[in-house]
Order: sequence, then structure tokens, then C-alpha cells
Amino acid sequence: MHVGILGGTGPLGRGLGLRLAAAGASVTIGSRDASRAAEVVEALHRRWPRSLAVEGAGNDGAASCEVVVVATPWDAVVPTLRPLAAHLDGKVVISVANALVKQGREMHALAPPRGSMAAVVQAEVPKALVAAAGHHLPASELEDLDRSLAADVLVCSDHPEATRSAMGLLASVQGLRPLDAGSLAQAAAIEAFTAVLVTLNIRYKAHSSLGLTGLGHL
Ligand SMILES: NC(=O)c1ccc[n+]([C@@H]2O[C@H](COP(=O)([O-])OP(=O)(O)OC[C@H]3O[C@@H](n4cnc5c(N)ncnc54)[C@H](OP(=O)(O)O)[C@@H]3O)[C@@H](O)[C@H]2O)c1
Repeated sequence: MHVGILGGTGPLGRGLGLRLAAAGASVTIGSRDASRAAEVVEALHRRWPRSLAVEGAGNDGAASCEVVVVATPWDAVVPTLRPLAAHLDGKVVISVANALVKQGREMHALAPPRGSMAAVVQAEVPKALVAAAGHHLPASELEDLDRSLAADVLVCSDHPEATRSAMGLLASVQGLRPLDAGSLAQAAAIEAFTAVLVTLNIRYKAHSSLGLTGLGHL
């Protein structure tokens, strides 16, 4: 699987890209500036095995991959996607964006126009198969391949193929358990809950992620 990450030079894109590459995927880290993406990839290769299949490109290069992750800040999602829409028709597009704002020592969830950033993505690229996933994963833990992960990852989509594809990718990463949380309407609650997790992280100086009990062995 070749995965492209729009805005992949940030902590989330770097971390997710590294983990997917460590699981055997080919990853293209996208950027508004291809030379910046190349520098970021060079820094990753200095720290982690050069054999990991990670390359840098412009966001258009990342958008031409089989599966595309949207990993820009929430307010950059629409301007990033708009010129790339034609690349994304018919593809699985995974939104990890959370619309949050810092208020003192708390994070608060904003209300995106269509209820969630994933719904904003789906509206912007209507012919893509959009899934929402990965919102609760702390980038700092993803980016350190020496750390074991142990997290549930909620996935939702209106397209069964997108749910299957996102869950398959996430399941390939050791320590992640993807869970099918239903339709894209669930993204509103999933994204908003990130504000609570980040507030806990600030309060307890932690890097928490989601772990649900009571689901048994899936
Ligand atoms: N950080 C986390 O722990 C975490 C966890 C789960 C989900 N998320 C979500 O994942 C997304 C990325 O998080 P992050 O912390 O990696 O974000 P970030 O570092 O703020 O941004 C990621 C990349 O987006 C690009 N970007 C920034 N401003 C832009 C703009 N105005 N227009 C177009 N591109 C722009 C930049 O890449 P270039 O300058 O190279 O183009 C930047 O490196 C966010 O939506 C966040 O809510 C984050």
C-alpha cells in the first residue's frame, strides 16, 4: 500500500508515516514545499532505519498515492484539498484533523460547519471515500519507534471500502486496535473528544490515548 500524507511534515504526519512504513507500507510525506518534505524525510532517515520506505514530495505527490491522509491543521484542510480534488476522486481519504482551540490550560472543541472536519473533507472531495481515524493518537508516541503503542483507534465512514482500508492500515501497526465506530456522523463526537484527551494530557503531563474496556477479544 502506498500512503500519501498531506501536511505530512508535522508531528502527526511524521509519526503516522513512520509507523506505517515500519509496518511495510510505502509512505510519501507531502508538504506545500517539496524541499521541506525532503528535509523532514532526511531527518527521519538519520534517526530511523534507511530501509523504511518514506519519501518526501509536494502535497500533489502525496495526493497521487493510493490512500491519502489529511494531516494539516483544521483551518488548512479546505485550502489544501481544493487544488488537489481531482487527484482524490474514487480514493480512500483519511481525515485525522481535529478542530480545537486552546483556552488557558484546556483544549476546547470548535464546531466545524458540517459538524466535523471529516464531514468538511467529504464535502470538499465528494467523489472520494472519506474515513475519519487516528484523532486520539499522540504524535509524540507515534514518532518514537522505540515506544510500544497500545491504543484503540476509532474509525468511521459512510463508505465500507474506506472503513476496511483505514482499519487494515491501522491494524498493520503493532499495538493499534482499530474499531469500526459507524458512519461519518460519528466523527463529530470522536473529534470533539480529542479536546478532553489533550486537556488530560496538559493536566497530568501525559501522552494518553484511547483504550476501551468491555469489547472482549475482537
Ligand atoms: N499532533 C498530534 O498529536 C495529533 C494527534 C491526532 C490528530 N492530530 C491532527 O492531525 C493534524 C496535524 O497535526 P500536527 O500536529 O502534525 O499539525 P501541524 O504540525 O500544525 O501541521 C502539519 C503540517 O501542515 C502544514 N500546514 C501548516 N499550516 C498550513 C496552512 N496554513 N496551509 C497548508 N498547510 C499547512 C505544514 O506542512 P508544510 O509547511 O510542510 O506544508 C505542517 O507541517 C491536525 O489536524 C491535528 O488536529 C494531531
